[in-house]
Amino acid sequence: MKQKIHAVIKGIGSYVPSKRVSNDDLAKLVDTSDEWIYSHTGIKNRHIAAENEATSDLAVQAAQRALEKAGCPASMVDLILVATATPDYLGFPSTACIVQDRIGAENAGAMDIVAACTGFIYGIETARVFIETGTYKHVLVIGAETLSKITDWKDRNTCVLFGDGAGAALLTACEEVSPKRGVLTSYLASYGKDAEVLLRPVGGTRVPFVPGTTPPEDMFLRMNGRKVYTFAVSVLGKTIETLLKKTGLSLQDIRYIVPHQANVRIIEACAKRLDIPLEKFFLNIEEFANTSAASIPIALTDMERQGLLHPGDLILTVGFGGGLTYGGNILYW
Ligand code: ACO
Repeated sequence: MKQKIHAVIKGIGSYVPSKRVSNDDLAKLVDTSDEWIYSHTGIKNRHIAAENEATSDLAVQAAQRALEKAGCPASMVDLILVATATPDYLGFPSTACIVQDRIGAENAGAMDIVAACTGFIYGIETARVFIETGTYKHVLVIGAETLSKITDWKDRNTCVLFGDGAGAALLTACEEVSPKRGVLTSYLASYGKDAEVLLRPVGGTRVPFVPGTTPPEDMFLRMNGRKVYTFAVSVLGKTIETLLKKTGLSLQDIRYIVPHQANVRIIEACAKRLDIPLEKFFLNIEEFANTSAASIPIALTDMERQGLLHPGDLILTVGFGGGLTYGGNILYW
């Protein structure tokens, strides 16, 4: 009997900057309050990168921790995927190439994935396909962001929502007849029609940066919060239902749902709509806020640290973000 190759998560790791900023700290910058932020989002704190800290610096720390956990030397990594909406540089070099050099992955290809907050989910699926086709044995997937660098710190509508951080997972080829481990399936989707709902308007080739003319605030992230909220609630439910239908699994089979940590109210609305107990969702947004592509791997690392992940557990990840993008994975832990 031909053995199928499975893509198994061998090690995960995360890193957040040491600077911790509370809601009360933000209330000194903009007209807001701990009460408003917590009641509207579930956020209490976020970690913010130092001035000299870029996305790759966080990614390197998370990657090294994941490799150490996996017991895999960097030289064995075949491919590095960095999911980020806040790369070190615009266009090139990719952040993945900078990470490749810094961790000493001398035999790896490297590229970035741009799918905003859904980036890690896209990365896991990309790694699965490379591994299951027998192309690569070891793929390092990293979600890393320094959203603080593209946030308008005078805009209370956005600056209270985001945090910086990185999380990484090493996926390895595993040949067994029927292992209850690895990436079972994924669902990747997009809705480019509403691209303008969440974007950085200036600095690309559509509206280039013009020295002396471009208002500095146009370089920051812009968001229509209500539209993102409505989109998120609808696609989280759709993704969960699609993944279950694809696999023939039921909600009872899933140990934990690990959602992109954007807003507790979005998760609560989705849980209510699908009649899922809130306890099935792992939440750590209170401490880290929305770290975009890093939020799911940071959550998984947190769960592992808390002893919540056991071999054979079925974990469902689900996310949404700029693009607009959405999707999820089902993982056998
Ligand atoms: N402090 C105090 N008041 C505020 C703040 C703040 N930080 N921010 C907004 N307000 C005010 C608004 O000005 C508004 O006042 P007004 O009624 O006088 O105009 C009032 O609060 C209500 O504003 P709403 O937009 O209706 O607030 P809402 O309850 O919708 O919450 C929020 C806003 C938290 C942004 C919500 O819409 C949301 O979470 N949206 C999704 C955002 C998201 O997930 N973004 C990440 C996308 S992922 C990625 O790719 C990066």
